[in-house]
Amino acid sequence: MNEGKKTFYITTPIYYPSGNMTIGHTYTTVAADTMTRFKKMQGYDTYFLTGTDEHGQKLEKKAAEEGLTPIQYIDRIVAETKDLWKLMNIQYDDFIRTTEERHTRIVQQIFRKFYEQGDIYKAEYEGMYCTPCESFWTPTQLVDKDGVKVCPDCGRPCQPMKEESYFFRMSKYQDWLIDYIETHPDFIQPAKRANEMLTNFLRPGLQDLAVSRTSVKWGIPVDFDPRHTIYVWIDALSNYITALGYGTDHDELYRKFWPANIHLVGKEIVRFHTIYWPIMLHALGLPLPKQVFGHGWLLFGADRMSKSKGNVVYPQPIVARYGVDSLRYYLMREMPFGADGNYTNESFLIRMNADLANDLGNLVSRTVAMIEKYFDGIVPAWDPQTAEPVGEELRKHCAKLPELVDEQMDKLQFSQALTEIWKVIGECNKYIDLTQPWVLGKDPEKKGLLGNVLLTLAECVRFAAVLIGPFMPSTPERIFTQLGVTDANLKSWDSLKCFGMLPDGIRVCKGEALFPRIDVNKELEALGGGEKKEEQAADKQEKKEKKAEKKAEKKHEEPEYPAEISIDEFFRCKIQVARVLACEKVEKSSKLLKFRLGLGADGERTVVSGIQKYYEPETLVGRQVAVITNLKPAKLAGIESQGMILSALDDQGNLKLMTVDEGAADGALIG
Ligand code: ME8
Ligand code: MG
Repeated sequence: MNEGKKTFYITTPIYYPSGNMTIGHTYTTVAADTMTRFKKMQGYDTYFLTGTDEHGQKLEKKAAEEGLTPIQYIDRIVAETKDLWKLMNIQYDDFIRTTEERHTRIVQQIFRKFYEQGDIYKAEYEGMYCTPCESFWTPTQLVDKDGVKVCPDCGRPCQPMKEESYFFRMSKYQDWLIDYIETHPDFIQPAKRANEMLTNFLRPGLQDLAVSRTSVKWGIPVDFDPRHTIYVWIDALSNYITALGYGTDHDELYRKFWPANIHLVGKEIVRFHTIYWPIMLHALGLPLPKQVFGHGWLLFGADRMSKSKGNVVYPQPIVARYGVDSLRYYLMREMPFGADGNYTNESFLIRMNADLANDLGNLVSRTVAMIEKYFDGIVPAWDPQTAEPVGEELRKHCAKLPELVDEQMDKLQFSQALTEIWKVIGECNKYIDLTQPWVLGKDPEKKGLLGNVLLTLAECVRFAAVLIGPFMPSTPERIFTQLGVTDANLKSWDSLKCFGMLPDGIRVCKGEALFPRIDVNKELEALGGGEKKEEQAADKQEKKEKKAEKKAEKKHEEPEYPAEISIDEFFRCKIQVARVLACEKVEKSSKLLKFRLGLGADGERTVVSGIQKYYEPETLVGRQVAVITNLKPAKLAGIESQGMILSALDDQGNLKLMTVDEGAADGALIG
């Protein structure tokens, strides 16, 4: 049996089912899956946990918006999440939902234990609260944005909150935790995140943490004081042990797999995992996870993609068009694990062509095609009579490849691990160019040499196929089919112990291209590149308007009027009474209104004005306004504006249209 096998337990965050999972959630989940598959391949007894974090005000709100009960709403998202993980070829061992009884019961038990042993006390709380993040912040943690105190994580405004609450004595454990982090350099990775925690949170002093809410209904009740629900982070973090049966009679998994080897999390929740969670565990008398790895963000434009910001890429359309392995490869290859990186369709498509279609795809197809052509499809035997010095380096390098990959995987450097594999693939392609098998093939005397070259290539391809398996689970089998490898022993990690295991005499079988070359421009269009351009144009327009608006505001504040002007100078401005004949919002602009103005005998004209924020367009129709009509026309959002409507600010900074007393004629001169 598996007794004695080394265990490996890895987790992802449990995600909020507040909307469908994005490519960002997919990123963490693919990383965890890749790691699990890698360890499994190496013979570890692995356990991979993911799930959903289903409590809290935000979810309650979200469900209500759709006219559903929280659980109705969440059930739907969870079902779609599970579908997505299936699509992404994710093999988790368990999917925990924090609304499950197996979880809620133990969380209550944990909370009670904290209370009974004096780690938790009851008091009144006053502070600033960020509802979307479910976080309280101290005054020093809040960030000032244009005079508004905003959440340091998400940048949205916080609200003052006062309520009775249970508090966890975090401060009691502060020195212990500082010492623990300092003496366990592997605990928080990358190391710079450990420094952030020490400098920003631990050394300045931990505040006791409010761990219950009376204002949140959708949560786990405190069983001895049911007016209170348990703070979502206490609830959520516990999942890593409740899923293993901790605190129950069936805690075999807990005993086998705890402490976890790795909690994979995005960098924004490192704080919860390296401060609150260790303290909770320590208070329970449990060992800490061996490592919390805080990876970077997949950005979209300059912003972190997030469900709540709405700037999101979803994996499904990409997978539907290019297959799951291409996306998994891209996610693990494109950015170093730990750093932020931009997702763009373009970089994805370029990688598909360069790395998958060209480097890997061509190597496989050339190798197989040449074995077919020169050896009737039968993998040749090594010819010991013929020296083949050109490939010596390559064979040595390839033999070392598993070790090189392992070294990087140990550090969760997925991208580096793939780089190592692709170095060998690149060398193989160079080796083909150097040895020129098509020249050797013309000379019967060189048959032995040709055979050694092709065998070298085939064995390198086999190594690559095994090693990419954890990243791209369905690609190895497609390669093995072409190579004619059927024996499971030749597809294993162990079979990479030495170079040259590929038996001669097996029959290769040319197949379809592994990854077809694609036309990047055409695909960009298909993926909505056009749409994106429009979005960018709209963005640009918005920025321009903002600038113009700022400039205008500045003018209001700091008028640079000459001390005096002559009456003639005043009459250079032609100001007229105009009637609003029609008014509508300018498409793609959040600032501009487009007016059709009537000037009586002077006809009609179009004026664009940045007052959308202050007026509903319909309410302006029929009103009279004051317009400068001899102002040089300007283009705003592509529309020529033939004049400027006059307005003034009220004391809240809102624009108020200037108007005239009833009875003035349309087109009348003001002056
Ligand atoms: O924070 N780039 O849930 P969540 C990289 N429920 N990773 C991303 C990402 C992006 N753009 N978007 C999401 C929560 N992620 C809590 C966790 S754990 C006890 C409770 C990934 O739905 C990344 O792993 O906001 C990030 O930490 C997580 O999803 C946040 O998921
Ligand atoms: Mg989050």
